[in-house]
Amino acid sequence: MDKFVIQGGNRLVGRVKISGAKNGSLALMPATLLAPGTYHLKNTPNLRDVWTMSRLMTSLGAFCELNGNELLVDTTNITSFEAPYEHVKKMRASFYVLGPLVSRYGYAKVSMPGGCAWGPRPVDLHLKGLEKLGAEISLESGYVIAKAERLIGNRFHFDVSSVGATGNLLMAAALAKGTTLLTNAATEPEITALARFLVKMGAKIDGIGTPQLEIEGVDTLHPADEITIPDRIETATYLIAAAITGGKLELENTNPYHLTAVIAKLEEAGCEIDVNADKISIEMNGKPKPVDITATIYPGFPTDVQSQWTALMLAAEGTSKITDNIYPDRFKHVPELIRLGANVEVVDNSAIVIGGRKLSGATVMASDLRAGASLVLAALIAEGTTEVLRVYHIDRGYENFEQRLQSIGANIKRVKTDLI
Ligand code: UD1
Repeated sequence: MDKFVIQGGNRLVGRVKISGAKNGSLALMPATLLAPGTYHLKNTPNLRDVWTMSRLMTSLGAFCELNGNELLVDTTNITSFEAPYEHVKKMRASFYVLGPLVSRYGYAKVSMPGGCAWGPRPVDLHLKGLEKLGAEISLESGYVIAKAERLIGNRFHFDVSSVGATGNLLMAAALAKGTTLLTNAATEPEITALARFLVKMGAKIDGIGTPQLEIEGVDTLHPADEITIPDRIETATYLIAAAITGGKLELENTNPYHLTAVIAKLEEAGCEIDVNADKISIEMNGKPKPVDITATIYPGFPTDVQSQWTALMLAAEGTSKITDNIYPDRFKHVPELIRLGANVEVVDNSAIVIGGRKLSGATVMASDLRAGASLVLAALIAEGTTEVLRVYHIDRGYENFEQRLQSIGANIKRVKTDLI
């Protein structure tokens, strides 16, 4: 296993080229199951989660090959319709194959994802929605089995706005007979990008980018090539790395319009930010001001940036409140930040941070991807050496993380360890 060894205290300065969005790729890849043939998915990030999805797709009979950041997918010979526990337990996004498989092949058997490090994450909306489209759903030995001769378009309202359930139903409805109306659908950029990709493949979708999606099912779709949108969560993490170290960064190949809530909060905290079409420049002088955030659905502040914001607020002189309305239990980073000397208390679905206390390096453990990023950010300002264990969580979502941080002045290295 790998750990990161970080010496805090360096100001980060320089340029970072942002990768394609992890959650964008994880939605585009299963969509290729809807039409046999060859796809070139450019700007695909070279990440553990993409490898996991490639392995799952390969186990279904697809061919996947990542050349640099171009992913070649060939879905000509799909021979299996089963996503085993071994893949789904590693990555919940594996559940995305359910909709396309049942819609195109009439049968899918996908392991139930179960809980995750930050609490229960149900899939009831995915299943209710597919049932509404006429799929027969049963649960057997930890697996969801979905069957349908052909899905039939219908109306479905999401009680809660869900990225994954919207993606699954969009893919399913694309090949259904008749029209499907999805209301209170997710509008996250990765879902909008998925809808655009489906349209390139021949799907008929109205209302893209809004919470009301109307899908007129077609009989067949065809392969298409796509460029994955930039990773807004990776971008936000580097913005916060600049803010926390009093640094100056230029982030390239990104989309500032996907990050308006984060940019507004960084400005409130005292950062100077300039944006143009695909670039964000940030400069921070002095310490951040305490700023409260509430994680909510897009275009609000993303839950995937909540733990990094907690790290930033450790550097602020004063009290801030970080609330998560999407995942109320997503505070596994807090006990580890406290090991570095932070003063944080979790009350219901909020973390109350009393910033300005000196942090000192310690050995801490990443419990999940974004919690891991938050520990690295805190380590950048801690006095002395911090060791972050379980780096494999961070590798799920940050391409060349330590190399990119090194290139902008961080003192971080990856070291093999027996500690787990
Ligand atoms: C996706 C992202 C994840 C991000 C999350 C919220 C991917 C691969 N992952 O996860 O990084 O943190 O969106 O932006 O894109 N819910 C239900 N029933 C369901 C499904 C969801 O009640 O069937 C609830 C969840 O408990 C949560 C909320 O809906 O409170 C949003 O979850 P959802 O948008 O589905 O998250 P994911 O798609 O799993």
